Amino acid sequence: MTIPSNIKEQFPLLSRTVHGKPIVYLDSAASSQKPDAVLSAMDTYYKQVNANVHRGAYAIAAEATEQMETARSDIARFINADSANEIIFTKNATEAFNLVARSWGVRNLGEDDAILITDMEHHANIVPWQILAEDRGFEIRWIPLGEDGTLDLTDLDELLKGVKLCSVTAMSNVLGTLNPIRKISDAAHAAGALMLMDGSQYVPHLPTDVADLDVDFMCFTGHKMCGPTGIGVLWARAEILDAMPPFLGGGEMILDVKKSGFVANEIPHKFEAGTPPIAEIIGLGAAVRFLDSLGMKNIREHEISLTEYAFMKLKECHGDDIQIHGPSTIDSRGGVLSIAYKDVHPHDISQVLDQHGICVRAGHHCAKPLMRELGVGATARASLYLYNTESDIDILAEALGEAGELFAF
Ligand code: ALA
Repeated sequence: MTIPSNIKEQFPLLSRTVHGKPIVYLDSAASSQKPDAVLSAMDTYYKQVNANVHRGAYAIAAEATEQMETARSDIARFINADSANEIIFTKNATEAFNLVARSWGVRNLGEDDAILITDMEHHANIVPWQILAEDRGFEIRWIPLGEDGTLDLTDLDELLKGVKLCSVTAMSNVLGTLNPIRKISDAAHAAGALMLMDGSQYVPHLPTDVADLDVDFMCFTGHKMCGPTGIGVLWARAEILDAMPPFLGGGEMILDVKKSGFVANEIPHKFEAGTPPIAEIIGLGAAVRFLDSLGMKNIREHEISLTEYAFMKLKECHGDDIQIHGPSTIDSRGGVLSIAYKDVHPHDISQVLDQHGICVRAGHHCAKPLMRELGVGATARASLYLYNTESDIDILAEALGEAGELFAF
C-alpha cells in the first residue's frame, strides 16, 4: 500500500489559499496539519461527551474517561510500550523533558555526576538540564557533530564515563539526521547510564518501537504527528517512573492528602496533576489511529521518495547555488531540508516563498548550539510530511529562483 494520492483532501487546511495561491505547507517539523479524523474526534467529544475524567459517576463522565484511556492504550501500542500506564500526558515534549529533569534529575544528579547530550539537540533537551545543573552542579557533556551532519561517535565510550543519563534526539529538527539510537543506547547501558530519546521528529515519521530501540525514556509531542497542540507524551519504563517523585502537585496525582502530607497516586496519574487536556488526548488517540491506518512504513517510504525527489529537483534547478544541510544519503535522514541559497538571508527566502503560498520556517529552529557549530545564524527549512507531493517541491524550487533574483548580490 502507498499513501493515497488524494490524501490532502483529508486535511481541510490544505485546501485553502494564501495570497491567492493554493497553500504549499512545508513546515511540518514545526507543526503538522490535522486530518478530519482528528478534528471530528475532538469536535464530537466537546459536542457529545464533554465531562471531567476519573471523577464523575454519571454516564458521560464514564464515556470521557473511557475515551481518554482508550487513547492512552492506542498511543502505548503505537510505540510498543509494555503498558498504557507508562504513557504520561504532558503539555508538549518540552514539558516532558522538564518532567524528567525535575523529577528523575533532582533525585539522581549531583556534583560528581554528568549527563551526555549532543551538539544537535533542540533547546528542550538542553535548557532544562542547564537550569537543573545550576542548582545541582553536575556536568553536561556533548557528543560532537561529525561529517555530513551526523554525530561523531569516535569518543562515545570515553564521553560516557561517569554519565548517569544520555539524552539524544532520534532525528534532528534542523539537519534531518537519523541518529543511531540503538547503538548509543547499548553504549550508554554498558556504561551504566540510562538512555532518553527525543522522539519529537522521529515518532511522526518512522515506525517507533521503544523495546527495539532499548531506550529508558522517550519524549514526543502530539502536534507534529497530526494531533492537536497542548498534548505531549513522556514514556518511560514503569519501574523508572515508579521510583520517580511527582513533578507537579494537585488533583488526581494523590491517593490521600492529610495536613501532615500526601501519598502519591500510582502511575500514570502520579504525574498528571489537575484536569488533563481531555479533548487533546482524545485527538492524539485519533491521530495515532489515523497514522496506523496509513501505516508508518508507508509514511516513511513516501517521505524517502519525496526527499530523494527534493534533492534531485533542487540540485537540478539550482546546482551549486543551493546547499542542503545534513546527510546526503537519504537512508540516514528524514524529510527536513535546511537550505542555504546563494547569499539570500533565510528570512528573505521565507518572505518570497510566502508570496507563493509556501510555508517554510526561517531561523535558528530552537537549536542555537547546532547553528553555531554549523557557522550559520539561520536556515530556511522546508520539512515534508505524508501529505506533501512532488508538485509541492516543484513549486518550492521555482519560487526559490525568484528569491535569488530579488535578493542575491
Ligand atoms: N521544534 C519545532 C521546530 O523545529 C518547533 O520547528
